[in-house]
Amino acid sequence: MCGIVGAVRNSEASGFLLEGLRRLEYRGYDSAGVVVINHAGALERTRTIGKVGELEQALQRSPLTGMTGIAHTRWATHGGVTEPNAHPHICNDTLALVCNGIIENHESLREVQRASGLTFTSETDTEVVVHQVYLHLQEGLDLADAVRATMKELQGSFALAVVHAGEPGRLVVGRQGPPLLLGRTDDETFVASDINALLPVTRSYQVLENGDVADLHDTGCLIRNDRGEIVERPLHTSAQSGDAVELGDYRHFMQKEIHEQPRAVADTLEGRLLGDRVLEDSFGAKAKEIFDATRQVQIIACGTSYHAGLVAQHWLEYVGVPCEVEVASEYRYRRHAPREGTLVVTISQSGETADTLAALEEAVRQGAMGTMVICNVPESSLVRESDLAFMTHCGPEVGVASTKTFVSAMTGLLLLALVLSRRHGFDAGFETHVVRQLRTLPGALESALAMEDAIAEMAQAFGDKAHALFLGRGAHFPIAMEGALKLKEISYIHAEAYPAGELKHGPLALVDEKIPVVAVAPNDLLIEKLKSNLEEVRARGGRLYLFADPASGLVESEDVRILHVAPVDSAIAPIIYSVPLQLLSYHVALIKGTDVDKPRNLAKSVTVE
Ligand code: G6P
Repeated sequence: MCGIVGAVRNSEASGFLLEGLRRLEYRGYDSAGVVVINHAGALERTRTIGKVGELEQALQRSPLTGMTGIAHTRWATHGGVTEPNAHPHICNDTLALVCNGIIENHESLREVQRASGLTFTSETDTEVVVHQVYLHLQEGLDLADAVRATMKELQGSFALAVVHAGEPGRLVVGRQGPPLLLGRTDDETFVASDINALLPVTRSYQVLENGDVADLHDTGCLIRNDRGEIVERPLHTSAQSGDAVELGDYRHFMQKEIHEQPRAVADTLEGRLLGDRVLEDSFGAKAKEIFDATRQVQIIACGTSYHAGLVAQHWLEYVGVPCEVEVASEYRYRRHAPREGTLVVTISQSGETADTLAALEEAVRQGAMGTMVICNVPESSLVRESDLAFMTHCGPEVGVASTKTFVSAMTGLLLLALVLSRRHGFDAGFETHVVRQLRTLPGALESALAMEDAIAEMAQAFGDKAHALFLGRGAHFPIAMEGALKLKEISYIHAEAYPAGELKHGPLALVDEKIPVVAVAPNDLLIEKLKSNLEEVRARGGRLYLFADPASGLVESEDVRILHVAPVDSAIAPIIYSVPLQLLSYHVALIKGTDVDKPRNLAKSVTVE
C-alpha cells in the first residue's frame, strides 16, 4: 500500500528515490511518481501508472536532476488509477506533496479551497492537502508550521512529505497514523515508510510519533511534536539485511516462499525449545509476569493472519484457555464487555496493518491486561507497541499472498498454547508430546511440498471454473478458509469456505459438476463426520478434490480425486494441510496467467483503514 520516500542529499536524489520505491513495491501499488527540486529551483515531476519499472524507463528517457526530492507508490483509494491521480501532487508549480493514508474531510476542505480560487487536477483526497499547505504558506507561515497547521485540520490517518521549490535542501514530513522513518548520514537526511527503503544508505533510523512534524535539511533534522515542542525520538539500528531479496531459480516469490516453509518453521522454532519444553522467554522479557496473569486470550488480526488466529483458538481452548478471535476492522469499532486477565494477541506479518494497530490501541484503551504480537518484522509498529513480541524469524516475505508467515505464525501460536497450558493445569504430558511433534514439522512440510507435481496436475481442473467451495472441520475449517482466500487472491476464482457440517444449511444448493469442492481430510476425530458431508456433495453430482490422510478410508472414483498427505499427528496437522492448498492456488494462478506476486487490487501491507 502507498509508500513514501524522500531525501535531502548532497548528490543527485533520483537514484535513491527510485531504489526506495523498488524496495517498497512489495507493499502493493498501482502507480508511482517522483519530484525533485532541480538546480534552477523549479519542481520537476514524472509519474507513471503501473510498475516502478515504468517510472524507471520514463526517468531514463528524461532524467530528473536535483538533490532534494520525494517519491511515492500509490494504491488507489480516492480516484482511479490514472497519471493525474498519481502522487506527487503539486500546487502553484511550487509546492509538491506525497501522502500515505486517507483524508476523511477532503470534501469539505475542497469546497473551501475552490471558493479561494484553487483548481484541482486530480480526483484524490491528497490534492486538498497540498492546497491546504499552500494556503497556510500564503498566510505567511513557514513550511514546517504550514504542514503542522494543515495536519491539525485534517481528519483521518496519514503520513506526508512536502518540498517547496523555493527551498532546495529542505524537506518537511509529518505523521498522523501510518509510519514514517527518518534516516541520517553525516551530511544527508532521508525519510521512508519503512526500513527497507532506507537500508541502501543507513541502518540507523528514528520513528516519528503521531503528531510529529520533522524538518529535514542536509545537516540534520528538527522534530517537533503536535504541541510544537522540539523533541528527540530514539535512534534505532536495524538488524535487517540491506540486500534485496532474490528470486533465485523460482518463477515467483510466492513459489519460493512456499518452498522456504520447512526452513522458515525451523527458524521459528530455533532457540524456542529446550528438551521437551517451550522456553517462555521466546515471547519477551515480561512473559512470565503476563502469562501468570492471563485468564483468557483475545486474538485480533486481518486476512491470512486472522486465519492463523482461528486455528489457534482450537489449540488454546483445547488446553483450557478461553479464546476469542476477531478481525481487527470489526474489533476496533465495537464496545467490549471487560473480561479480567485478557491477554490481547495480535498477529501480523508486517506489523503495520492499520486496522490491527488501531484495534490494539482500542484494546489497551479498554483495559487489556497485557498485549502480545506474533510478527515477522522486528522494526514494525506492532512490535514497538506491544508488551510481548514473538518474532516468526521467517525472513522477508515478498509475495502479497502470505504463505510462510502463515505456517510460522501458527507455529508460534501453538507454542503460546503450550506455555499457557501449564498455567491452566493441563496435562504436562501434552506439552512433551506436542514439542516432539513440532520437531518433526520441517520434515513433514518437506513431504507436503513433494506433492507439488500431483497438485499441479489436479489444478488443471480449476482453470476454467468461476467458483469453488472449500470444506474442513474443526481446526481445519480455518485451513479451508485460508485455501479459499488464497484461490481468490491469486487466481481471481470466487471461492468460499464452509465448515463441512454446515453445507446442508445453504451451500449445498450451489453444488453441481461445475463447482469443484475441495476438502481437507486429516485422520482426526471428525473424519467420519466429514466423510458423510462429502457423500452429500457426491450425491448431488459434485466433483470432490481431497487432500486426505491415507488412513482416512476415502476412496478415489470418477468424481472423487484424492491426493494423500503423509500421516501427521493431529496437533500439527493444520500446519501441514495448509501447504497443499497453497500449492493448489499457486498452480491454478499459473494456469490463469495472473500476476501471482502482486495480484490486482491487493496490497502486502495495508496501512490504511
Ligand atoms: C493483506 C495481505 C495479506 C495479509 C493481510 C494482513 O491483505 O495481502 O496477505 O494476510 O494483509 O496483513 P498482516 O501484515 O497484518 O499479516
